[in-house]
Amino acid sequence: MTTRRVRLLPSEKEFDVHEHESVLDAALRTGLSLSYNCSNGSCGECRAILIEGELKRCSHYDYVFSEAEKNQGHVLLCSFTAQTDVTIEAATNQGAEDIPIQQIRTTVCKIDRVDKRTIILHLKTPRSQNLRFFAGQHVTLNMGETRIRNKSVASCPCNARFLQFHIHNNPGDEFANYVFNKLKTSDEVIIEGPWGVFTLDDDSTRPIILLAYETGFAPFQSMLEHAIALELGQPIHLYWLVDNPGGHYLGNYIRSWVDALDNFRYIPLTANKKLEDEGLTKEKRIAALSKAGRQIVEDHPDLSGHDIYMCGPNTLTHAAVKLLLDHGLQKDRLFVDAVRRF
Ligand code: FES
Repeated sequence: MTTRRVRLLPSEKEFDVHEHESVLDAALRTGLSLSYNCSNGSCGECRAILIEGELKRCSHYDYVFSEAEKNQGHVLLCSFTAQTDVTIEAATNQGAEDIPIQQIRTTVCKIDRVDKRTIILHLKTPRSQNLRFFAGQHVTLNMGETRIRNKSVASCPCNARFLQFHIHNNPGDEFANYVFNKLKTSDEVIIEGPWGVFTLDDDSTRPIILLAYETGFAPFQSMLEHAIALELGQPIHLYWLVDNPGGHYLGNYIRSWVDALDNFRYIPLTANKKLEDEGLTKEKRIAALSKAGRQIVEDHPDLSGHDIYMCGPNTLTHAAVKLLLDHGLQKDRLFVDAVRRF
């Protein structure tokens, strides 16, 4: 397959584009976040300026360029592919504030019961309405009436039409009860977002430590898939604490990343040694998070050069924070997100 190299200015980011693939699709596939909207040549949001090389149209577009845009060499990244290696001026999104809030009517395409307490919900957006988001952000899922919940997107921003969410079956939780017992494939779910600033700093080259509690693993699935798309080279260590043995519902999938990511290490942790259905007391969970923190500092006695991301209820994650800061972690390199249950 013929591939061409694209260099973006001013970011100096580079990526390959395949024959017949739009420059936009290639950028998204490789984990870059660019401005776009319709993906089909109508809105003009993906306008960029060709600086060097040749592009050719790969799909129809309706957007009408102004005379000024024509004179400046504007192109649509969703409708053009590269005929030679090219240099293009196109701004990349730098932070969560660059991404607009979107409301999208999605369709349930799969309800994957990965164990008896966890469902991975797969939603599909309409063809011309990808969800733009950064790895780690969350959206509001609206299934009607009181069945509304903020959930982290678990899938990669590079696959923005097919979205995944991890749903835990908490007793007495009306939203989870609906997903487990009533929701069907082809049902509509309205999503709104993205929200939040808990995102992977993919410009940092520092070693990364991720500490997840239960379904707090969801944003880390997104971040790790994004890290694979970007081919990040620094060490990444994932500590995943669950209540009970057998609770690492994506353990085998995570182990497959060991091959895809250089320097990736996976450390599964369990709070309770016994298999039991009912949850642990809050005290036992806090003790387990403290123990996870102690394991991190045993493995990495000097945290001054690391970035650490934590996701779990903040009533629990604080148990590990002081220990990490006492071992040299810089406050501004600690990123904490609470698992959203409301
Ligand atoms: S994204 Fe709308 S024209 Fe390219």
